[in-house]
Amino acid sequence: MPKVTLHRDGHAYHGEVAANTNLVVKAGIRQFPYPHLRYGCGMGKCGKCACRVLKGAEQLPEPNWKEKRRLGPGLDEGYRLICQLWLSHDVELLQDEIPIEPSAPAALQGS
Ligand code: FES
Repeated sequence: MPKVTLHRDGHAYHGEVAANTNLVVKAGIRQFPYPHLRYGCGMGKCGKCACRVLKGAEQLPEPNWKEKRRLGPGLDEGYRLICQLWLSHDVELLQDEIPIEPSAPAALQGS
């Protein structure tokens, strides 16, 4: 079972999730990491769920087109859209207090 650490607002929240878990889906049903993970659309559009991956990035799949569009250069800084990830390995995440500035406004993405 993947162990997840989420750093947010100076606190570290720890949890264990089933393999192949999406943390935004879990938060949506009020399970860990609820209420600590900020998210919005759950569809890779708003960017609110973006977190920097501190550990475990090498185990994650390549960013999909939504992450590439939304995060742009943020990908090189280690950001990922958590709503687009299904976790199978331990991961340590940091979510900034202020959401990352989206690289492309939602209006330009046909949403
Ligand atoms: S929740 Fe909107 S992009 Fe992830």
